[in-house]
Amino acid sequence: MTDLAVIVLAAGKGTRMKSDLPKVLHKLAGKPMVGHLLEAVKGLDPERVCVVVGHGAELVQDYARSVAEGVLGVPQGEQKGTGHAVQVCEGALKGFKGDVLIVYGDAPLIQTADLALLVDAHAKSGASLTALTTRVEDPFGFGRIVRDGKGSILKIVEEKEASEVERAIDEVNPGIYCVKAEVLWSLLADVKPSAAKGEYYLTDILEIAKGRGLNVQGVESDGGWGLLGVNDKIQLALAEDGWQERERLRWMAEGVGMVDPASVWFSHDTELAAGVELEPHVVFGEGVKIAAGVQVKAFSHLTGCEIGEGCVVGPFARLRPGTKLAADVHVGNFVEVKNSKIGKGTKANHLSYIGDADVGAEVNFGAGTLVANYNRKTGVKYRTTIGEGASLGAHTVLVAPVMLGKRATTGAGTVVRADVEDEALVVTKAETLVKRGYAKK
Ligand code: UD1
Ligand code: CA
Repeated sequence: MTDLAVIVLAAGKGTRMKSDLPKVLHKLAGKPMVGHLLEAVKGLDPERVCVVVGHGAELVQDYARSVAEGVLGVPQGEQKGTGHAVQVCEGALKGFKGDVLIVYGDAPLIQTADLALLVDAHAKSGASLTALTTRVEDPFGFGRIVRDGKGSILKIVEEKEASEVERAIDEVNPGIYCVKAEVLWSLLADVKPSAAKGEYYLTDILEIAKGRGLNVQGVESDGGWGLLGVNDKIQLALAEDGWQERERLRWMAEGVGMVDPASVWFSHDTELAAGVELEPHVVFGEGVKIAAGVQVKAFSHLTGCEIGEGCVVGPFARLRPGTKLAADVHVGNFVEVKNSKIGKGTKANHLSYIGDADVGAEVNFGAGTLVANYNRKTGVKYRTTIGEGASLGAHTVLVAPVMLGKRATTGAGTVVRADVEDEALVVTKAETLVKRGYAKK
């Protein structure tokens, strides 16, 4: 196979996002758009990857390097258009003889298979330049693919330069091209600034190649709008929706049950075992891993946690980073757990906060149990240890750092301020005053 180099264009500001954050760092499923794209690129196992950076160059470059080793950031000082953005890579790819795949960094739904379709077709036809194309219902704003009577691709015209007839074309340019390195740089040298925007359009290289009598091909993908870039927050939300829909289908195919898939939201790195059941309105933040046979009930929010087999979570549970539930743990309604390990079979079913705690197996948390883990004066969060088989009465408060022994019991409303030995009972006794006839006065 021919060697492959990839150029990812990611220098643009993304004016239409109306944000200081560089466009390609806006997140989809908790991961920057360009991260999704680099993931797809990685699947091709290219020899080199260049990311063209400009706005927020350092941020974008550092991020790209953190997710894809060996990525080379190429600075584009002034953003003079997509053609210019590719041109600045000439030095970085000096001496490279294979095919150059060019992709736009703002298209997070592109998958390895989409790119492979283009790369393979390009190799098979022996063309100098091949562009991926797709059809959409509303082509407004995208470059249109102009073909001749025989169906051969002639050129790409941008919305602003398109004639009325061209605007009616529904075959559009997703911005994914494969070009032989030996012709790419000389084609770019002939690109002139566009009449409408004064930018150097990469899309012009098709017409220039045609004019030189080179073999130019278009490969149509059925990817549709999912291949197109995100320019504003409306398109970002649509892309998120598309990504989520794909993930829901993937997880259901893997044996995860959902009664209302459309209301379940995944993170880019969610890991679920077959047999997990998800009720409506479950939201996953980053870093969640769930074992088989777990039921996550409605309106639960999970981030950075690991859940063992057979656990029941929710409804209305909140699991935060550092939470690790062993098997068969029950975490019920309005219970928040953070940075805590909870042993097998333990139950916290109602209205509790468990933070920075190590909890043994078969512990029972009464309703309203709270771990006071934070000392406001010192600004330090302390740990709490609860031994296996302990039973906490309703509204127990454990003031950290504190240790509650194995099979210890706390009475309702107890405030535990000092360590309690195994099997002991601890009760806070406060006098209860009864005033007869109080209402009548
Ligand atoms: C571009 C295409 C259009 C296509 C559409 C698909 C051109 C001229 N037009 O339009 O045919 O239908 O994408 O989504 O190519 N960038 C740089 N440096 C620059 C300019 C842009 O790195 O100087 C990067 C941007 O960060 C972005 C990508 O190139 O990731 C595309 O640029 P954008 O301005 O979004 O192009 P579109 O107007 O969407
Ligand atoms: Ca775009």
